[in-house]
Amino acid sequence: MKVTICIGSACHLKGSREIIEKMQKLVAANGLSDQVDLNGAFCSGNCDHGVCVTVEDQLYSLKPEDTEEFFQKEILGRLKA
Ligand code: FES
Repeated sequence: MKVTICIGSACHLKGSREIIEKMQKLVAANGLSDQVDLNGAFCSGNCDHGVCVTVEDQLYSLKPEDTEEFFQKEILGRLKA
């Protein structure tokens, strides 16, 4: 599963670094390193609502504090589906 987190400047200011670090920990803690492919990406023009994160080409806007819930729902949820 491909997960891309924007590291453009607007998203950086909104905490993309923190989201990436949390994601890396969550992926490792769940033993999913070979199933979840975390990537950084440059600005995709969706800076308005939060840090731009895409999962399999579907776009989401995240806040750092939402990372865990997002991970549970969108990443674990999809892997189990
Ligand atoms: S800086 Fe992230 S979408 Fe623009």
